Amino acid sequence: MLLKGKKGIISGALDENSIAWKVAERCFEEGAKFTLTNAPIALRMGKINELSEKCSSRVIAADLTSVEDIQNLYNESNDFLNGKVDFILHSVGMSPNVRKSKEYGNLNYDWLMKTLDISAISFHKMMQIAEKNQILNKWSSIVGLSYIAAQRTFPFYSDMAEAKSLLESITRSYGYRLGNTCKTRVNTISQSPTITTAGSGIEGFKAFYNYAEKMSPLGNADASECANYCIFLFSDLSRKITMQNLFHDGGFSNTGISEDIIDQFS
Ligand SMILES: NC(=O)c1ccc[n+]([C@@H]2O[C@H](COP(=O)([O-])OP(=O)(O)OC[C@H]3O[C@@H](n4cnc5c(N)ncnc54)[C@H](O)[C@@H]3O)[C@@H](O)[C@H]2O)c1
Repeated sequence: MLLKGKKGIISGALDENSIAWKVAERCFEEGAKFTLTNAPIALRMGKINELSEKCSSRVIAADLTSVEDIQNLYNESNDFLNGKVDFILHSVGMSPNVRKSKEYGNLNYDWLMKTLDISAISFHKMMQIAEKNQILNKWSSIVGLSYIAAQRTFPFYSDMAEAKSLLESITRSYGYRLGNTCKTRVNTISQSPTITTAGSGIEGFKAFYNYAEKMSPLGNADASECANYCIFLFSDLSRKITMQNLFHDGGFSNTGISEDIIDQFS
């Protein structure tokens, strides 16, 4: 078992399609003990309790834009886990502009700030409060989830592209800091389009899901495969990987054009 004896915190499991849900299931199978967290509004759906029971976990409500909520999440996790943590998953993203179909040339700037706060600055907050509270074990591992719209333009991704660029920048800056202070590594996984609530909420999602499938020599990576990658990054097998944005996309990011796409346009 790759995570035997390890303790952690997993955010973002909304339902069984969520990437974080699959990560929690795999962490449990690999012997980890962890708490689950999501925004109070998401907890009202009640689904996460099923996951918690299955994984002998505890659910702690936290809006990850709130410093107080994160502080409370760490206090309660410490009680449940009986000590410091070895891994943290940040699997959180939301854009009010995308959700309310505000197009990129007509952004609501208050909502843009919310997008950045929920989808990127919350990652910084989680790490800053973890560092201040000294909750990270030596050689711990922190993972966030990103998308290639941080590097290339995908028009329908709108202001989430800015959020992902910021998320990846925070990964480098805080990865440097935590590497020095407690040998903690910080990475993002840049995941293929994946059919989840957040994913399919984006207009045109199905089209770019299918396009990515045809552009990737290995095909799109699904949520379970992403969970396996997270297990590797939380395990001791990845101790010297830090400050990276790691593409987990079946080869999409390095493909110019595929034969499938050529055939389609011939
Ligand atoms: N699905 C995709 O195509 C895809 C591709 C690449 C990266 N990602 C990223 O993966 C991560 C997980 O998304 P998912 O696809 O599993 O979708 P999801 O909708 O299942 O997960 C997003 C989670 O964010 C939570 N959340 C939103 N606001 C929050 C807040 N203020 N505080 C705490 N939690 C909050 C939601 O409740 C939800 O559980 C996100 O960062 C997303 O951008 C998704």
